[in-house]
Amino acid sequence: MSTVALSSRLELNSFAGKALKAAVGFWFAVMVAGQIAFAFTVASYYGLAAVRGNTALAWSKHFTHGYVPGDTMGNSAVALHLVSAVIVILAGMFQLMPQVRERFPRFHRWNGRLYVVTAFTVSLAGLYMTWVRGSVGDLSQHLGSSLMAVLIMACATMALRYAMARDFRTHRRWALRLYLVVSASLFIRAGLFLSFLLNRGPFGFDASTFSGPFLTFLAFAQYLVPLGVLEIYLRAKERGGAARRMAVAAGLSALTVALSVGIFAVTLVAWLPSIRAAYDNRKSIAATLSATIASNGIDQAARLYHDLKAGASAKYNFDESELNTLGYQLMKAKKFREAIRVFQLNVEAYSRSSNAYDSLGEAYVNDGDKALAIANYEKSLQLNAKNSNAVEMLRKLRQP
Ligand code: HEM
Repeated sequence: MSTVALSSRLELNSFAGKALKAAVGFWFAVMVAGQIAFAFTVASYYGLAAVRGNTALAWSKHFTHGYVPGDTMGNSAVALHLVSAVIVILAGMFQLMPQVRERFPRFHRWNGRLYVVTAFTVSLAGLYMTWVRGSVGDLSQHLGSSLMAVLIMACATMALRYAMARDFRTHRRWALRLYLVVSASLFIRAGLFLSFLLNRGPFGFDASTFSGPFLTFLAFAQYLVPLGVLEIYLRAKERGGAARRMAVAAGLSALTVALSVGIFAVTLVAWLPSIRAAYDNRKSIAATLSATIASNGIDQAARLYHDLKAGASAKYNFDESELNTLGYQLMKAKKFREAIRVFQLNVEAYSRSSNAYDSLGEAYVNDGDKALAIANYEKSLQLNAKNSNAVEMLRKLRQP
């Protein structure tokens, strides 16, 4: 080979190496931003609710079975899952930062132990919540998240084993796999919200049952796709030619752009409202009414609601989500009459909200009042023609 050809090949190789490094840097920067936003949201939303003694309502907003009075084991599993989730996200992020690893090896070792322990606790608590308590989604999704739990524990064990054997090359590979499988919790949220954005609504699943082919796909793809991309990347980095490395750099950059749009969407639509709710210093009207319903019944609670709205509206949080969450909590406790009253109050206050009517419709379905359920779903659809849940519910309710 001539000297000119050799030097241009070397230049191309070096360029491909730099392109791959830059693509990985871009990906990791997006991951760090997403993980900080995710961990901050979970810590703020659930942590501050616990500090304020508002755990029952905060949990019931996002969990199928949040706080269930008397279920110490189940409630502890949720608490353990949430605390471990925050730690495992942040610990993984620090483990992968080369500057931290090189400058603070002692921190890397202790943080690594914490990472492995929380990888196990988040997974075991997640398995308990899925199979013993019951959670949102169908069997395929439960199998998908359970395989994720098994993979997290397997990767954590292998990473620890090779670190102890001082085989750092193999340790690094397993640590990268562990990081990706743990990060599936971020990938699935970004993927789901990206699909909402692109489709302008739910895509490939039934919003009323939260099941369907796209969710089954996501339940497995959330970790299998990243693990596949990792293997392709490692092969390209270690043995690939310039063309292969450049192709991998381009593919990874395209995936990172999609990931950043998904993270942006979930942050805007789900996490920012949760953060705002966490740092809202007004009293929760839902918590106040929940206590009154328990002590004096729904009629007294409805009177209190109107009194507070008239006399102390600045002190209380009267956002639409407050009564919506309380209504669902009452439905879970099978207090349908109370739930209907609460959703009625919300419909009065937010008469232009399609979601408020949708919730009231659902309460009537649960209470067995088909005619009023249909009337409220129709109203919900009138206010938002894209409410696919209302369309689906009306179809079911009108079946003979
Ligand atoms: C390691 C990464 C994980 C993180 C960071 C994580 C984080 C979370 C968070 C923050 C929630 C509350 C819902 C929300 O606010 O979005 C949640 C709920 C839940 N997680 Fe995880 N999780 C992880 C892994 C798992 C695994 C492996 C499983 C299953 C084996 C699992 C099962 C569940 C279940 C069942 C719920 C409640 C859903 C419901 O009640 O309908 N999680 N998780």
